Amino acid sequence: MDVELRELMQAFVLSDYQVQEVYSRFCLEIAKGLRRSTNSQSNTKCFPTYVQELPTGDEMGKYLALDLGGTNFRVLLVSLKGHHDATVESQIYAVPKDLMIGPGVELFDHIAECLAKFVHKHNMSSAYLPLGFTFSFPCVQAGLKEAMLTRWTKGFGCPGVEGEDVGRMLHEAIRRRGDADIAVVALLNDTTGTLMSCAHRNPECRVGVIVGTGCNACYVEHVDNVDLLDAQFKRKEKQIIVNCEWGAFGESGQLDFVRTEYDNEVDRKSINRAQQLFEKMTSGMYLGELVRLVLVRALERNAIFKGAGNRRAEYAAILQHNIDIFETKHISEIESDTFPELANTRRIIKQLFGIEKASVEDCQKLRYICECISSRAATLVAIGISGLINRIADRKVVVGIDGSVYRYHPKFDTYIRNTMHKLVKSDKEFDIMLSEDGSGRGAALVAAVASKTK
Ligand code: GLC
Repeated sequence: MDVELRELMQAFVLSDYQVQEVYSRFCLEIAKGLRRSTNSQSNTKCFPTYVQELPTGDEMGKYLALDLGGTNFRVLLVSLKGHHDATVESQIYAVPKDLMIGPGVELFDHIAECLAKFVHKHNMSSAYLPLGFTFSFPCVQAGLKEAMLTRWTKGFGCPGVEGEDVGRMLHEAIRRRGDADIAVVALLNDTTGTLMSCAHRNPECRVGVIVGTGCNACYVEHVDNVDLLDAQFKRKEKQIIVNCEWGAFGESGQLDFVRTEYDNEVDRKSINRAQQLFEKMTSGMYLGELVRLVLVRALERNAIFKGAGNRRAEYAAILQHNIDIFETKHISEIESDTFPELANTRRIIKQLFGIEKASVEDCQKLRYICECISSRAATLVAIGISGLINRIADRKVVVGIDGSVYRYHPKFDTYIRNTMHKLVKSDKEFDIMLSEDGSGRGAALVAAVASKTK
C-alpha cells in the first residue's frame, strides 16, 4: 500500500499494547458499573434486566412483539411452539425523521397506531394479547415491566421521554386508542432479546451482542456480583441478565489514547456530543461517516485519486457537502468485492464522484480505508466480548450476535474471532452464533418468562 495512505490510516491500527490496555480499562469499567458504590461514576451502567430465567425451549403461546431502536420499527406476532421452535410474522414500518426528534407522545401514538393496524390485519382485534416491547435504549428497570429511559441514543431525541417509564407511555397510547386488548408484559433491550433467542436454541449462550445502528452487549451474571439488585431477587434465582450499555464506554476519557481526529469530528457533529464514544467507533450509524471524513483527508493529502489532478478538490467538496453520502453498507459492499471485477467498489466510486472506470489502485485504496475502520471496530467489539466471557464461570460460552454490521460485513466475524483468541482466557472455549430475530422471538420469550413468574 501507498506510503502516504498507510501513514494516514496508522491512527486506526491498534497495537497489541493498545488492545491490552483498552481491555483492562473495559474490565475495570464493567466492575465499576456493577458495584453500587461506584456505579454513578461508571460509563457502562450494567443495568439489571430482571430476566433471570433462560428459555428451556418448551415455551408456548402467541405473543405480540414491538421492536424500536434501529432504523426501522417492527411489529411482530410470535408463536412459540415448544421444542425450541417458533414462527414469526412481522411488518416493518419506517420511523420518519421528524418522529425521531419530535414530542415523545407522538412517537408512542404512532407506535400504537401501527400496532392496532397490525392486529386488525391479523383479525385479532378482540383477542387478549400479551406484548413484549424491545426498546433498545438505555433504561433503568425496576422489574420486567417498568423501564425508565435514561438517555436517547442513535439519533433519537424525542423530548418528554427521558426519565419516564416507556412501558407506561406505550400502555397509555394503546389505551387512548381503545381499539385493541393488548397488555405490555415485558420490556427488554435488543441485546437481551438476542441472548434469549440464541439461548432458546443453544443452552450454552451467555452473552448477547448487537453491532448494528448502535453497539451494545448483555451477559448472564451471578446475582451476588450485581450489587444494584435488591435481595428479594437473589433468593430464588442465582443469575440475571445484565445490560452493560457498553456504547457509553470512553466518556471519562478511557479511549482518548486511541481515538483519532476523525472520531472527534464524528462526535462533534452528533446530537449526543461526548456521549456513546465506544458506540461511535464501532456501530453502523458512524462507520460510514468515519470513512467519509478519512477520504476527505486522503484527497487533500494526495493519497488517493492521484491521477485526477484538479478534480480531487471537487471530489473532496462533494464529500464535504453531502453528509451521509458514504453509508456503512458501502463498507460491507466494498470489502465483499472480488478481484479483478471490483464491481461494488467501482459502482460506489461512480455514484460518489461520477468516475466512470476507477483504477484498480484507487479501488484498493478505498478498500484499505474501509478495512482499517471496520477491523478497528471489530477489534473493539471483541475486546468487550472477551471481557464479559472472562467474567463468566462456565468453561464454554456461546455468544449470540446480531445487527446489520455483523450480519452483512464479510469479515467482521473473522476479525472478532482473531482478537478473541488473544484475549479469552486459555482455559475457556467460546463460539459465536448469529441470532435469529432476537427482537421478535427474544421479546416473546421474555414475555413468556414474565407470564410464568406472575
Ligand atoms: C445503543 C442503545 C442500546 C442498544 C444498542 C444496540 O447503544 O443505547 O440500548 O442495545 O444501541 O441497538
